[in-house]
Amino acid sequence: MIGKLNHVAIAVPDLDAAIAKYRDLLGAKVSEPQNLPEHGVTVVFVLLDNTKIELLYPLGEASPIAGYLAKNPSGGVHHLCFEVVDLAEATDRLVRSGVRVLGDGKPKTGAHGLPVVFLHPKDFDGTLIELEEVAG
Ligand code: CO
Repeated sequence: MIGKLNHVAIAVPDLDAAIAKYRDLLGAKVSEPQNLPEHGVTVVFVLLDNTKIELLYPLGEASPIAGYLAKNPSGGVHHLCFEVVDLAEATDRLVRSGVRVLGDGKPKTGAHGLPVVFLHPKDFDGTLIELEEVAG
């Protein structure tokens, strides 16, 4: 059902410092910061040959990343994103198996302008999973 690992997301306490590390120390290609107010985050993508790293920084008062950084002040791996071809079918199948979808259970528009859902970390070995619909 799942395809490629689309990205690994890392919550960072200092976005400029994180960009500098990936761009200047590690020599990676790094995108411009993008504000996603409906998700409460600013994202920057580190573009690798086989996947991406999504650097997440809190945006606004109710950012879900603020809580994460309060618990993990030096930052940390926040979620993994897998690609699926049919998000509705994938979500239905998971819900029927008892997996909890976060929020109202309906897809939101993710950082790439594509529909995404998040699965409850307690149902995936303590790991927050994002599913993103891609063209098949
Ligand atoms: Co993501």
